[in-house]
Amino acid sequence: MEQYIMKGGNPLAGEVVISGAKNAALGILAASIMTDDDVVIENLPDVSDTNALIDAICHLGASVVRPDRHTVKINAKNIHAITVEDEDMRKMRASYYLIGALLGKYKSAEVPLPGGCTIGSRPIDQHIKGFRALGADVSIVRGAVFAHAIDLVASHIYLDVVSVGATINIMMAATMAEGETIIENVAKEPHVVDVANFLNSMGANIRGAGTDVIRIRGVRRLHGTTYSIIPDQIEAGTFMCAAAVTRGDITVKNVIPKHMEAISAKLREMGCEVVEFDEEIRVVGKPKQRHMNFKTLPYPGFPTDMQPQMTVALSLAEGTSVVTESIFENRFKYVAELSRMGANIQVEGSVAIVDGVEKLTGAQIEAPDLRAGAALVLAGLAAEGYTTIDEIGFVERGYENFEGKLRGLGANIERVDSEKEAKKFRLRVG
Ligand code: EPZ
Repeated sequence: MEQYIMKGGNPLAGEVVISGAKNAALGILAASIMTDDDVVIENLPDVSDTNALIDAICHLGASVVRPDRHTVKINAKNIHAITVEDEDMRKMRASYYLIGALLGKYKSAEVPLPGGCTIGSRPIDQHIKGFRALGADVSIVRGAVFAHAIDLVASHIYLDVVSVGATINIMMAATMAEGETIIENVAKEPHVVDVANFLNSMGANIRGAGTDVIRIRGVRRLHGTTYSIIPDQIEAGTFMCAAAVTRGDITVKNVIPKHMEAISAKLREMGCEVVEFDEEIRVVGKPKQRHMNFKTLPYPGFPTDMQPQMTVALSLAEGTSVVTESIFENRFKYVAELSRMGANIQVEGSVAIVDGVEKLTGAQIEAPDLRAGAALVLAGLAAEGYTTIDEIGFVERGYENFEGKLRGLGANIERVDSEKEAKKFRLRVG
């Protein structure tokens, strides 16, 4: 019954070091099995999603050593299976990245079809379209993807949907396809670029990552590497929003300000002070913050993974804001929980109309998914009184030591496993 329990009202202030990017780590971990040499990955976030994928890689037969919680050494030369276990896919849907990696290196992969999740149906038709274009025979049988190829050959692929996952998955398979593959209408997120840079550090020949067209000249083999993952754009944005929500003063350290531009711009539009340095950004919340409108878009637009956090900030701003979610079909589930804290938000399909309120009050709520869970924590830290949040396993999938980092900024928050521990927290905090 793990829960977060918190008492709101403290403006959060101080510095917080941002961890490695979860969504870069997942693609990089999968790609690490594409060589028989040692691969050392540094600045790995210690979160359940990355740990689940490392387990899946272990189950394939790779050797995995963890010198410390933020470093992993992988050697895939003894991989004896091209079949990913159901259990591993159930734990973490991005295990589907192993299709592109296994197909690229072994020309064969059998991976359970990832389910949908609370934010949307999450299809992988574009991934499959790309694999087929590269010459693989792909079928879906008994809930699993079976992909096999005699040889992978270069192709000119146009993605019908800008998809982070499809871009990364197809890029991995094409890395070892003969000839030059061109993929158009690709995702340009920082973590897509990081996976491309990682593959190039292994001897791949990938150009154009971060633009609308990626060109990949296939190579016959990849070699080992040591690589450090970029900072997590979404974790950084979450803490930047925490300064706005709690009217605090937070400096996020170990970030790449360029990756944060859309978030910084919208916080400034609300009236926050945002100061950028080489590798850190300081956000100062203001007592009165203005309403503004935003629409989630593929990078460099406003990231969908920051939509719940920014909506919480707008729920405490002056005036009416319009939030449009253009990426996923069901990413406002948290609004019902936020409304129980006094927020005034109407959801109509992909649009939420947010009427700012003076204050939120604490409540017993539940995290519906990873980013919404983090957003509800921010709401609880601004609310009057106590808030408890259930289903925090969602949050721990993508945030390392979230409550510890928040406590470091002055938050009254604890992760508790029992009613008794919750009572002790209330007695201590008063
Ligand atoms: C990645 O998911 C991230 N996950 C998500 O972050 C993030 O929200 C999303 O990209 C968008 O930025 C990881 O990187 C592990 P998409 P992904 O393919 O790759 C549709 C988090 O909080 N689509 O870019 O699954 C899809 O339905 C998570 O860390 C197809 O139609 O997202 C969606 O509407 C949540 N067919 C849109 O494209 C496909 O084959 C964008 O999805 C693939 C996607």
